[in-house]
Amino acid sequence: MKLTYYGHSCFLIEAGGKKILFDPFIKPNELARDIKLESIEADYILVSHGHSDHIADCVQLARQTDATVVASYEVSEWLNKRGVEKTHPMNTGGKKTFDFGTVKCTVAQHSSGLPDGSYGGNPMGFIVTVEGKSFYYSGDTSLTLDMQLVPRWGKSEFALLPIGDNFTMGYEDAIIAAEMIQCKKIVGLHYDTFGYIKIDHEKVKKAFADAGLILLLPAIGESIDI
Ligand code: NI
Ligand code: MN
Repeated sequence: MKLTYYGHSCFLIEAGGKKILFDPFIKPNELARDIKLESIEADYILVSHGHSDHIADCVQLARQTDATVVASYEVSEWLNKRGVEKTHPMNTGGKKTFDFGTVKCTVAQHSSGLPDGSYGGNPMGFIVTVEGKSFYYSGDTSLTLDMQLVPRWGKSEFALLPIGDNFTMGYEDAIIAAEMIQCKKIVGLHYDTFGYIKIDHEKVKKAFADAGLILLLPAIGESIDI
């Protein structure tokens, strides 16, 4: 699989002949100013919850790419009202097979108000399985015992976890999460974008290495084979 990082919690996975974009938040992100929204292609957009730092560019990108947006029922309806017709509503615990593979929605301990104050339903994470290989994206969440269930639904080749603290788990809890989900290769998300979530890269990388884990922090705009 190929992963391209677009900053904050936004990344693109290319697998199974499809492009799957997660949590589009690019234009308002000062750190992602070199990314051209117009250049992004996607077949699917997966949205973990309704907060603006995960959905800000969703309407524009859905129109531009004609992608199907997969999100909670409430986020999906909110997008429909804004002219996004191709949505697939889901909720925690639900699994659905699409043409690229399977998406299972996991519990995330967080909140999910939409930018205009509408109720966004439950925040979610996703386990995505393409051609027999799975990865886990936790979404915004605290460390939660629910993560112990993740390996039962697919062995994660890698996982994407928030590490910025304050609004989500921080790196210490992400290390415990890695143990719970039984995955040694972690891509860090949701850090450095705002003052509240700035991290000391060297300290965090050392903590992961000391725990026997690989922490990947791709640069914004960088693509990696994973
Ligand atoms: Ni959030
Ligand atoms: Mn967030």
